Amino acid sequence: MVNLPILLGLAAHASAVCTRPQLQAAADAYLTALTSGTPSTLPLATTVNYIENEVLVDIHTGILSTPMKLSFNRTLLDTTDCAAFLELNAASNPHPYVLHTRLALTPTTNQINTLDAVISDAGDWIFNATSHLNYTRSESWDPIPESQRDSRAVIKAAADAYLDQWGSPNMSVPLGTPCARLEGGMYTGASNPSANTCAMGAFPQPLHVAKRRYVIDEVLGGVGVLNNFPWLEASIVNGSTPSSNLVRVQGGLIRYIHEVTICVTRMCGR
Ligand SMILES: *[C@@H]1O[C@H](CO)[C@@H](O)[C@H](O)[C@H]1NC(C)=O
Ligand SMILES: *[C@@H]1O[C@H](CO)[C@@H](O)[C@H](O)[C@H]1NC(C)=O
Ligand SMILES: *[C@@H]1O[C@H](CO)[C@@H](O)[C@H](O)[C@H]1NC(C)=O
Ligand SMILES: *[C@@H]1O[C@H](CO)[C@@H](O)[C@H](O)[C@H]1NC(C)=O
Ligand SMILES: *[C@@H]1O[C@H](CO)[C@@H](O)[C@H](O)[C@H]1NC(C)=O
Repeated sequence: MVNLPILLGLAAHASAVCTRPQLQAAADAYLTALTSGTPSTLPLATTVNYIENEVLVDIHTGILSTPMKLSFNRTLLDTTDCAAFLELNAASNPHPYVLHTRLALTPTTNQINTLDAVISDAGDWIFNATSHLNYTRSESWDPIPESQRDSRAVIKAAADAYLDQWGSPNMSVPLGTPCARLEGGMYTGASNPSANTCAMGAFPQPLHVAKRRYVIDEVLGGVGVLNNFPWLEASIVNGSTPSSNLVRVQGGLIRYIHEVTICVTRMCGR
């Protein structure tokens, strides 16, 4: 006796999701292309959205065309959305960088259809790749035991609350204790690592964070949110800038936040 609903359910599931090995292979291909300066080695779809700091760029002339020496990589895998998120530190590259990249895969072909990178360097928001490397390395992002994992919805809601609070200062954010925030190379947990130092003060005007592109990894409790950081202060110039927040959630509470925000190519409020 064949159980049709279960069969259909499995079929729909199988065609809609990616496996972790499949996504890790795509992330590894990106790392190889980046470190060897060979974008042609990537398994690309016929049409690929290759984006650097919110600008569509020719993949063969962008940052991938020059080998980059990497000191650290952290990867989230989103099996539901067939995407990966990479936090990359190139502190000892001749030109130091810190990147947050979202990569999306077409599951049926294993081809990369999107590479969307926020690429920070000297002059960007509190940029210091050496300091970033030291702090990101010091954190524990071990896989969360299966019985303690949060759902996608909980992980996403925690990151959204953090970003939404910039527009609604009285909104509560599920911050844990301890909680540490790494912005550029500045670490709130440096002097008091056992405290919750993630809370944000109110901005001069409410900020509404737009264009959120999520990558959610329940195994790591991680969510990467590429987004558009708005500036509304009349004293500066209204505008927005490429930004990204990588958040680790444990037991429904935020443990780490890593922000990368671009100032050089666009207005950064300074
Ligand atoms: C990425 O990180 C892993 C785990 O730390 C490491 O083994 C690997 O060599 C790194 N890859 C690159 C290209 O740096
Ligand atoms: C970056 O951070 C390192 C380590 O904290 C520090 O030694 C260095 O002076 C900083 N560089 C700049 C340009 O601030
Ligand atoms: C490096 O990180 C450790 C925490 O792991 C901190 O105690 C130390 O001050 C940091 N060093 C620099 C130079 O930032
Ligand atoms: C937010 O909270 C503060 C202090 O608790 C209060 O004075 C203010 O009116 C509140 N603002 C809004 C928009 O609810
Ligand atoms: C920036 O936007 C705010 C809110 O919309 C507005 O009040 C202000 O006049 C704008 N400033 C400039 C310089 O355009």
